[in-house]
Amino acid sequence: MKKRILVTGGTGFIGSHTSVELIESGYDVVIVDNLSNSNIEVLNGIEEITHVRPAFEQVDCTDMPALELVFQKYQPIDGIIHFAASKAVGESVKEPLKYYRNNTVSTINLLELMPKYGVKAFIFSSSCTVYGQPDSDNLPVRETSPRKDAESPYGNTKKIDEDIVTDFCNSGAPIQAILLRYFNPIGAHPTAIIGELPNGVPANLIPYLTQTAIGIRECLSVFGDDYDTPDGSCIRDYIYVVDLAKAHVAAVERILEGKSSEKVDIFNIGTGNGVSVLELIHTFERCTGVKLNYKIAGRRAGDIEKVWGNVDKANQVLGWKATHTLEDALSSAWKWQLKLREDGIM
Ligand code: UD1
Repeated sequence: MKKRILVTGGTGFIGSHTSVELIESGYDVVIVDNLSNSNIEVLNGIEEITHVRPAFEQVDCTDMPALELVFQKYQPIDGIIHFAASKAVGESVKEPLKYYRNNTVSTINLLELMPKYGVKAFIFSSSCTVYGQPDSDNLPVRETSPRKDAESPYGNTKKIDEDIVTDFCNSGAPIQAILLRYFNPIGAHPTAIIGELPNGVPANLIPYLTQTAIGIRECLSVFGDDYDTPDGSCIRDYIYVVDLAKAHVAAVERILEGKSSEKVDIFNIGTGNGVSVLELIHTFERCTGVKLNYKIAGRRAGDIEKVWGNVDKANQVLGWKATHTLEDALSSAWKWQLKLREDGIM
C-alpha cells in the first residue's frame, strides 16, 4: 500500500512543488489548505503534471475540530509535511498576533493529533531566518550555529515552532521530526504549470524581478549597495524550489524507512553558495537575454547582510543535494512569468 502524507499548505508555492515530487515518488498525498494565500486551481496543475489528483480538504489547521475530521477521514496517515503558515515578514510586524496564532496553533494542533492517529513522521518547514545575521566566522552557517533573536514576528514564529516540535518529541511522544531550514527558494516547475503566485506587489526578489522584466513593474530596486560584501549588495543562498521539494521527500523517507535514530533532526537546505543581488540580476539577464530595469535604492529595514548555508549534513546524512544551477532556477522563473502572461493571469 502507498504511504500517505498529509501536506498542509499543499497548494502554496513550496507545498505544490513538494506534492508533485511526493506523488512522483509513489506517495499518496492529502492536501490541507485554507486557500488564504493560494488558489484551488493549483490542484489542476498538480494533476496535469503527475496525472494524479491529490485529495484536498479546505481546512484551516488552527481549526482543531475540522483538522481532526481530516485525520479521521484519511486514516492511516504515515507522515505530515507542515508548510501551512503566514510568511510575509513586513505584515508580521504590523499584525503580530495573526502570525503567532496561525503559525503556532496550527503546529500544536497537528502535533497533538499525531499520537492519537498513529502518525509517526513530522517534517517542519523552517527557515534560515532562525540564524539572523550569523557572525562572519559562522559563514557558511551550520545547523549547530547559534540561533539569534528574530528580526520579525514571522521569524520568531519559526524559532518558537522549532522549539515546540523539539520539546514535544523530547517529551517521549511517539513521533520523529525533521526541521528543514530553507535558504531562499526560487523558480518554478520546469513545465511552468505551477510556480510562485504572490498576491499584490511582491515583497520577495524573484517575483518582483520577473514582473519588472515583463513590464508589470517599472523598476526593480536593489535594496542597498553599501553592505560589507564584494559588490555591496546583500548575499543569499538561492535554492531551486524543485530541489527543495525533493529534500522533503528525502526527509520523510528518512523517518518512514527507519534510517534516523534522532527524535528531532535539523538540516540546512540550500546550495552552499552565496550570491549577491547584483550577481543574480546579471545572471538573469545573461540566461534569459532580457535586460532588466533596476536601480540602487536604500537598504530595506530588517534585511540581513549576508547568509548562506553549509549543506554538508544534508548532502551526507540526508543523501540530498541541490542539482540545479542558479541559471536553471532563474530560467524557470522567467518561463513561469511568460506563462502567466500567456494565460492572461498577469
Ligand atoms: C525573507 C525572510 C525569510 C523568509 C522569506 C520569505 C528575513 C531576514 N528573511 O527572506 O525568512 O523566509 O523572506 O518571505 O526576514 N531585494 C531587493 N529588492 C527587492 C526585493 C528584495 O534588492 O525588491 C533583496 C533583499 O534585500 C535581499 C534579497 O533581495 O537581499 C532577497 O530578498 P527576499 O526575496 O525578500 O528574501 P529574504 O529577505 O532573504
